[in-house]
Amino acid sequence: MNDYLEKFEKMKVAGNLAAKTLDMITGNIKEGISTDYIDKLGYEFIRDNGGYSAPLYYRGFNKSLCTSLNHVVCHGIPSENKILEDGDALNVDVTAIIDNHYGDTSRMFCIGETSVKYKNLINATYDSMMKAISILKPGIKIGDIGFEIQSHVEKKGFSVVRDFCGHGIGTSFHEPPNILHYGKKGTGIEIKPGMTFTIEPMINAGKFDTKTLNDGWTAVTKDKSLSAQFEHTVGITENGYEIFTESAKSYTKPPYL
Ligand code: MF3
Ligand code: CO
Ligand code: CO
Repeated sequence: MNDYLEKFEKMKVAGNLAAKTLDMITGNIKEGISTDYIDKLGYEFIRDNGGYSAPLYYRGFNKSLCTSLNHVVCHGIPSENKILEDGDALNVDVTAIIDNHYGDTSRMFCIGETSVKYKNLINATYDSMMKAISILKPGIKIGDIGFEIQSHVEKKGFSVVRDFCGHGIGTSFHEPPNILHYGKKGTGIEIKPGMTFTIEPMINAGKFDTKTLNDGWTAVTKDKSLSAQFEHTVGITENGYEIFTESAKSYTKPPYL
């Protein structure tokens, strides 16, 4: 019984470090900095706190975190040439490893005055993730998660990216099951105590189609519409769930005050 508690404790340590990294980055986001500078800050913070950045050298990725700007859906590669400008919105995705366990989380950041339309997309994306998390407990089906997200954002005229999904996570970065962010109630595998996975909806203002740039990583919306994403790592308990990647500063979605 509850033989997963030790795993949960270790994942919480990794998850807390990933969340603290985003908390630290929050205070440093401003117009004029490069996404590579954010990468350096993240790399150093994780290292100085006893962890490793999981993305670094992962399948040929050569940066410590992902920075996905505006119409970039996910896996944006930090670059000295990508400078944050007024009106931009940026997803920063951090995955930390401590004691062989992984914590994976991302948040959106607004630079200066982001458009009302983009703010609405960001709010809908965050709310859809939290709605999906709120129903987690043993006995529900994986399709119930996707249904919560899809129904929430489509009501507002937004679309759910199909080409990327959430994933099991624990002592490896990506493991089964895939957590789709769209789906039908009552379908798919059953959620059980001890399961640990991410929920990380990518939501587009336009169509859900994506394409990957020649760098082999950067995924963008095919129609160049704006995209938003948030991510938490969660564990399923006997009667509910635990979020491993909550902010110690209660940062949820922008504005972070
Ligand atoms: N952190 C991403 C996720 O949520 C994965 C990034 S893989 C990388 O699953 F190599 F691009 F960093
Ligand atoms: Co993830
Ligand atoms: Co991630």
